Amino acid sequence: MARATYLLPLFVVLIHLRSLASSTSYGNLTAPSCHPDHAAALLQLKQSFLFDYSTNTLPSWEAATDCCLWEGVGCDSVSGQVTVLDLSGRGLYSYSLDRALFNLTSLQRLDLSKNDFGGSCIPAAGFERLSVLTHLNLSYSGFYGQIPIVIGKLSSLISLDISSIHYIDGGEIDTLYNVFDSYSLLVLQEPSFETLVSNLTNLRELYLDGVDIASGGEDWARTLGKYVPHLQVLSMAYCRLVGPIHYSMSLLRSIEVINLKLNGISGVVPEFFADFLNLRVLQLSFNNLRGSFPPKIFQLKNLGVLDVSNNEQLSGNVPKFLYGSSLETLNLQDTLFSGVTLSYFVNLTSLTDLGIDGRSIFTEPPYFFINKLNHISTLRLSSINFSWEVGSKFSWIGDLQSLTTLKLSDCYSTKTMPSWIGNLTNLRSLDIRYCDFIGPIPHSIGNLTTLEYLAISDCAFSVQLLSSVGNLRNLRFLQISYDYHGLSGPITPAIGHLNKLAVLILRDCSFSGRIPNTIANMTKLIFLDLSQNDLVGKIQNPTITLYLIICELCIK
Ligand SMILES: *[C@@H]1O[C@H](CO)[C@@H](O)[C@H](O)[C@H]1NC(C)=O
Ligand SMILES: *[C@@H]1O[C@H](CO)[C@@H](O)[C@H](O)[C@H]1NC(C)=O
Ligand SMILES: *[C@@H]1O[C@H](CO)[C@@H](O)[C@H](O)[C@H]1NC(C)=O
Ligand SMILES: *[C@@H]1O[C@H](CO)[C@@H](O)[C@H](O)[C@H]1NC(C)=O
Ligand SMILES: *[C@@H]1O[C@H](CO)[C@@H](O)[C@H](O)[C@H]1NC(C)=O
Ligand SMILES: *[C@@H]1O[C@H](CO)[C@@H](O)[C@H](O)[C@H]1NC(C)=O
Ligand SMILES: *[C@@H]1O[C@H](CO)[C@@H](O)[C@H](O)[C@H]1NC(C)=O
Ligand SMILES: *[C@@H]1O[C@H](CO)[C@@H](O)[C@H](O)[C@H]1NC(C)=O
Ligand SMILES: *[C@@H]1O[C@H](CO)[C@@H](O)[C@H](O)[C@H]1NC(C)=O
Repeated sequence: MARATYLLPLFVVLIHLRSLASSTSYGNLTAPSCHPDHAAALLQLKQSFLFDYSTNTLPSWEAATDCCLWEGVGCDSVSGQVTVLDLSGRGLYSYSLDRALFNLTSLQRLDLSKNDFGGSCIPAAGFERLSVLTHLNLSYSGFYGQIPIVIGKLSSLISLDISSIHYIDGGEIDTLYNVFDSYSLLVLQEPSFETLVSNLTNLRELYLDGVDIASGGEDWARTLGKYVPHLQVLSMAYCRLVGPIHYSMSLLRSIEVINLKLNGISGVVPEFFADFLNLRVLQLSFNNLRGSFPPKIFQLKNLGVLDVSNNEQLSGNVPKFLYGSSLETLNLQDTLFSGVTLSYFVNLTSLTDLGIDGRSIFTEPPYFFINKLNHISTLRLSSINFSWEVGSKFSWIGDLQSLTTLKLSDCYSTKTMPSWIGNLTNLRSLDIRYCDFIGPIPHSIGNLTTLEYLAISDCAFSVQLLSSVGNLRNLRFLQISYDYHGLSGPITPAIGHLNKLAVLILRDCSFSGRIPNTIANMTKLIFLDLSQNDLVGKIQNPTITLYLIICELCIK
């Protein structure tokens, strides 16, 4: 009978098991039910959550039911011991992690990510009891302070994730909460990074994004090569790592993902990276790397993401790519790369996300290639001089009909914003920063009816909001801020037509006149910032529920 049960679809098995839970007469015919000590430990853990503040109350966790059937719990099918606890992203809130957890000594996978442990410390004792743990995820859980040495005793660990910050590149989050101004929540000082990983020799995945490793920050690469040479994923973004990349790192022969962005790493990009034949992701943006980028890295067959942007002293040449390369993302913005010819990207048929520095494009745009660049959906361009005699040098962008995201930064111009922007009718996201066009945004922007995200910030042109902005009916995010020209004029009442808008930031742009009361009708708005303008009036009777308002008392 047990054999027959295994042939049933999973949901039938679950129903079957559920009916058994209320009846003991079938006894041993099915997998044993939950170990009673484990059920007790889980129930105590449940009690430690403050359900008034949590979005989930773990309703299936009820005494006298089989804990192997509880939400997020998995058991060994023979012994009935709890081997998996996955409470990831359940919106649970607690003042601290209850030690009852450590009675689940058979746990192999523990995931408490994306909950809120109220800024408490990761318990200094207890984890050593989870000696068969292979996967531990404590990321984004509101833990604070020193990572305890006890984590370093979990020598069976294959995957460890204690990341503590999010950085969504160019996304909405960094605009709303400036994550870089926030201090790191977790630190690795005593014990040091070296002490932590010295016994974790089975580790394949290590994620420590946002953990402050400032002390011993120079030795990190040597430590990696010495203790965790089997790593496949290394993610240590924003860890305050400094110094050059030590040669010991060449021992990481199985590495597939290297994410070291947002550190202070100096020196050269080592030649030995080209020997990492499994490398899929090389993310080194926002460091102090310099010298010449090893061209062989471009030839790595499995490389899908290569981002060395924002290393202002890093130079190199973009090679001719052979047909069939796997590159999907290539970002060379704010570097000293030279000799970029668009036709080179024609062979990169997987490339969807391209970032280049305007200064590096050295030839005339080869127009006949443009229709072959239709695989590119995201284009990031920095350091563009729109006022060269061939001011139309960049007008080929207007022909890239496949673009859904366009990011322009650091543009110098003696002209208005090019009207070809209005030709990109598939755009969903347009982000313009540090640009100094002359005059207002062109009317043609109203043609971008699929736009969902529009941000224009730190610009020195008058970002007047013309009525055409009311056409952008799909906008969910609109930010116009720090316009140093300061002649933005009134806010068009047409803004009230943007009835999908969730975030409206019109900050520090010398907008003047009355606040249009049509804002009161924007039912989806949750964030409004109209501060530091010359606006008068108040929003009358808003029907909207704003969660966060920075508007100098403009709501009546
Ligand atoms: C049922 O399981 C119990 C405990 O696991 C065991 O002692 C008993 O012998 C089993 N009975 C049968 C009929 O297999
Ligand atoms: C955890 O185990 C200890 C003994 O190992 C026991 O005294 C304690 O009551 C258990 N706690 C829970 C919540 O089960
Ligand atoms: C850890 O949890 C986070 C959030 O749930 C998830 O994004 C991440 O991929 C997990 N890490 C690992 C190594 O699975
Ligand atoms: C690593 O293992 C050695 C030998 O078992 C032990 O002496 C040392 O304390 C362990 N280090 C950590 C950080 O657990
Ligand atoms: C594209 O790849 C082919 C070989 O696959 C090569 O002959 C050609 O030169 C490449 N073209 C460019 C523009 O890189
Ligand atoms: C842009 O180009 C114009 C004309 O070629 C030149 O005068 C100006 O200095 C350039 N500006 C920058 C910032 O490169
Ligand atoms: C923009 O579109 C218009 C009308 O379709 C066309 O005439 C013009 O050439 C386009 N401009 C660019 C730069 O693609
Ligand atoms: C696009 O913008 C131009 C310039 O404002 C305008 O003349 C044209 O009617 C617009 N096209 C559409 C389809 O809205
Ligand atoms: C808000 O919407 C209602 C119904 O569509 C309309 O009657 C009213 O005039 C609008 N108010 C403003 C200030 O636009």
